[in-house]
Amino acid sequence: MPALPRRTVLLGTLAGALSGALPYPEPANPSRRAPRQPSLPDPFTLGVASGDPSPDGVVLWTRLAPRPDAEDGLGGMPDRPVDVEWEIAEDEAFTRVVRRGTETTTADVAHSVHAEPAGLAPDREYFYRFRTAGHLSPAARTRTAPAPGAPVAALTVAAASCAKFGAGYFTAYRALADDAPDLVLHLGDYFYESDEGEVRDPGGPEPTDLTGYRRRHAHQRSDADLRAAHAVAPWLVVWDDHELVNNWAGGDRGRSPDRRRAAFQAYYEHMPLRRASVPRGLDLQLFRRVAWGSLATFHMLDTRQYRAPRGSGGSITGLDQERWLLNGFRTSGASWDVLGQQVFFAPRSGDGHKSDTWESYAGSRERVMAGWLDSPVRNAVVLTGDEHVHHANELTLDDRPAGTELVTTSVTSGGDGGDGDGDGGDENPHIRYREDRRGYLLTRFTPTELRADFRVVEQVSEPGAPVRTSASFVVPDGGALTRA
Ligand SMILES: [Fe+2]
Repeated sequence: MPALPRRTVLLGTLAGALSGALPYPEPANPSRRAPRQPSLPDPFTLGVASGDPSPDGVVLWTRLAPRPDAEDGLGGMPDRPVDVEWEIAEDEAFTRVVRRGTETTTADVAHSVHAEPAGLAPDREYFYRFRTAGHLSPAARTRTAPAPGAPVAALTVAAASCAKFGAGYFTAYRALADDAPDLVLHLGDYFYESDEGEVRDPGGPEPTDLTGYRRRHAHQRSDADLRAAHAVAPWLVVWDDHELVNNWAGGDRGRSPDRRRAAFQAYYEHMPLRRASVPRGLDLQLFRRVAWGSLATFHMLDTRQYRAPRGSGGSITGLDQERWLLNGFRTSGASWDVLGQQVFFAPRSGDGHKSDTWESYAGSRERVMAGWLDSPVRNAVVLTGDEHVHHANELTLDDRPAGTELVTTSVTSGGDGGDGDGDGGDENPHIRYREDRRGYLLTRFTPTELRADFRVVEQVSEPGAPVRTSASFVVPDGGALTRA
């Protein structure tokens, strides 16, 4: 298991003082020892990432791996502690640096770095980069969340899921990066454990231990389009099943605890998550809330880890998480309450039914929707992954309008697709739109409306295919889903 939080040293800078940054404390005993930076080839092959923004900070991530495909899963790093410096600036040229610090990382966490700078200004764009052993990482863009309750004019959020490396090219990630959203939601199946490679090398055999999962994550990050998507904005990530194994759910806790521990450890090491998500025993704390001023609150759910028996008395979130969620609705002051989660939420009759979705936990679903209607929630929006098909769904409870579900298709899983637009037909009239090409979802929230653009890639079997918007929908504040 990893050593818990590594030492962070904040170094004051003149630039920070001049830029009007908030005052922050000098370290009580600034370290004077020489930095531990062995001679290395370029260790920044996996890129950088940021995540979980708050009004005064954001997680900065990288992992040192001069040889990402190293057999032992340790990226070609020596088995010793290494100091990695990070810096955050107001400008892309890093002439106005507002924070600097150093993290010491070790082989226990595959030389991953999770820095959690604080003291940043709310609702601001920043740029960050890392440095070690004479190498400078790529620079990337991130941003802080607005102050609690502050008015926000607009927020652009991209959502993506299901990026099976072997199934095709990550053109969707490149297009998502070009759209320059403020925030990216990743809704699960960040990678696949499968060894299938219909279009590209999936990255070796199916992983079952820590070495295997680390190598699979590193292989995923070898894709430049994915690295570009990480570099454009902070991400809020939740997992689905393939980060461990196809269709796993809470009930499998005891079946393969070593594999579960390995997958969770590697997931934490490679995602821009806060220390609250350091795995403990068989668990990894992933459900959490991120507020975006008075405009939106993101309730990021984990529908895999805590499932309690199916049926109306069962819960897909587990009862603790459900209570946490309903409490969040009760205290909501946001224009939009957004659930970022894995599996299909809306009811569905006929062929489309999949047994591991909310359909098998109808009581759970009703309690969540009742929670919206019995609380100050103004507009409820569920953002969903897993389906590999874009959907726009109206959500109702006992014939009362309750909210909207927008399902993003896969980045690559399922291959090119292309049977075209459709809807849910007579059996599922609340399913207003379906499109089975690959792509991602681009949304724009304002106090008066939510706009959703369903983005599709013409094909993923070839690199660089054209990307277009296949359909757009609008939800006015307090209103119903309408095709734009
Ligand atoms: Fe998937």
